[in-house]
Amino acid sequence: MTKKIILRDDEMPTQWYNVVPDIPGGLKPPLDPETKQPMSAEKLSAVFPMGLLEQEMSSERFITIPEEVQEIYKIWRPSPLVRATSLEKALGTKAKIYFKNEGVSPVGSHKANTAVPQAYYNMKEGVKRIATETGAGQWGSALSFATSKFGLECKVYMVRVSYDQKPYRKSMMHTFGAEVVASPSMETKIGRQILAEYPDTPGSLGIAISEALEDAFSRDDTKYSLGSVLNHVILHQSIIGLEAKKQMEIAGDYPDVIIGCCGGGSNIAGLVNPFIPDYLNGKKIRFVGVEPASCPSLTMGKLAYDFGDVAQSTPLLYMYTLGHDFIPPGIHAGGLRYHGMSPIVSALVRENIMEAVKVHQIECFEAGVLFAKTEGIIPAPETCHAIRATIIEATKDLNDPKTILFNFSGHGLIDMGSYDKYFSGDLQNYDYPAEQIAKSMANLPKI
Ligand SMILES: Cc1ncc(COP(=O)(O)O)c(C=O)c1O
Repeated sequence: MTKKIILRDDEMPTQWYNVVPDIPGGLKPPLDPETKQPMSAEKLSAVFPMGLLEQEMSSERFITIPEEVQEIYKIWRPSPLVRATSLEKALGTKAKIYFKNEGVSPVGSHKANTAVPQAYYNMKEGVKRIATETGAGQWGSALSFATSKFGLECKVYMVRVSYDQKPYRKSMMHTFGAEVVASPSMETKIGRQILAEYPDTPGSLGIAISEALEDAFSRDDTKYSLGSVLNHVILHQSIIGLEAKKQMEIAGDYPDVIIGCCGGGSNIAGLVNPFIPDYLNGKKIRFVGVEPASCPSLTMGKLAYDFGDVAQSTPLLYMYTLGHDFIPPGIHAGGLRYHGMSPIVSALVRENIMEAVKVHQIECFEAGVLFAKTEGIIPAPETCHAIRATIIEATKDLNDPKTILFNFSGHGLIDMGSYDKYFSGDLQNYDYPAEQIAKSMANLPKI
């Protein structure tokens, strides 16, 4: 039996796929918080290069991947599609389980797929320095790698709890030449404000985004970069699904279910979106987004216009949200601790094209350990969420020979501290913090 399907370099897709024109009912535009009118490209160009803004607003289905980006992609792409035969055996299921291994990138996750084009378009437009946030540290390392390829400086605001939990992510960013501070930091006005009020805060992606934006607004040589959520990020991630489609065809199979974990929505959308046209043409296929029970934006949030950050400095995005000032508990999948969800994934859920489920972190680590013992790769805590949902799906009916495809968004080799906590019984499951969420929902902007 074929264990893994590898494409040659010259079989790598040369265009990204943009799902936006194919979303039934379309997307609602981002709004300017001051005027409540659609945000203009001019205003956004203070923080993003035009090349990325054009993609953000594009209604073209296919967009060519610049050759310089393709060359860097080839360091690790096309990524392997692997059949999890040993996991299937351990579960005693007749289901076929495939995973797309995005852990093979230089920094260990899918985040490099968008970091490289983002650094490229900034470099093309003469930007010298990029400021960003990072939750788990995966995005910060990916952007540090990408900026080093194009000779740009990089400043990373790293969510406090991850900064303390994952010292080697910092080392990785330093290796690529980036500067890293724990967020909230004393380096920005919003950081100082939050620290004065909550000196022991674990931080959140919403706070770190505010700091990185403030940094970019305050310097002429600097633009801002986001590792998830936005349309252009999801466009870049479509390379995952485009490759997977070719590889499934070579395997002579087609997925009945596609599963991915959801932080801001980029890895699941990257894998799922290229399959959407088939779905719309009547193909029977289910898409399942998996989120942590402690930060359940899709399953417990509200579809509304909200800010992407705590300081209310982003445009208003129409998305499932728990409220922009919700600070989720410090769970070990830092990349899933975001109050909102990408407008694209939100629209897919709104249209009942994608389902959403929530899972607890202890069961996720248990699934990750089983995956490591069977398939030999230690998954990132975020990825463990997709594996947990895959196991649930594959064991619902052990005799159902369905085909499951999940996104292996990243390896966990820099997350061993979290595994240690799991092994020593120090992890706890957090239930949906209803009271805290209700409080931040009351602060949703009135549109
Ligand atoms: C390995 C990994 N998987 C998943 C995610 C979640 O992000 P997204 O939903 O944008 O893919 C992250 C975010 O940091 C991550 O590092």
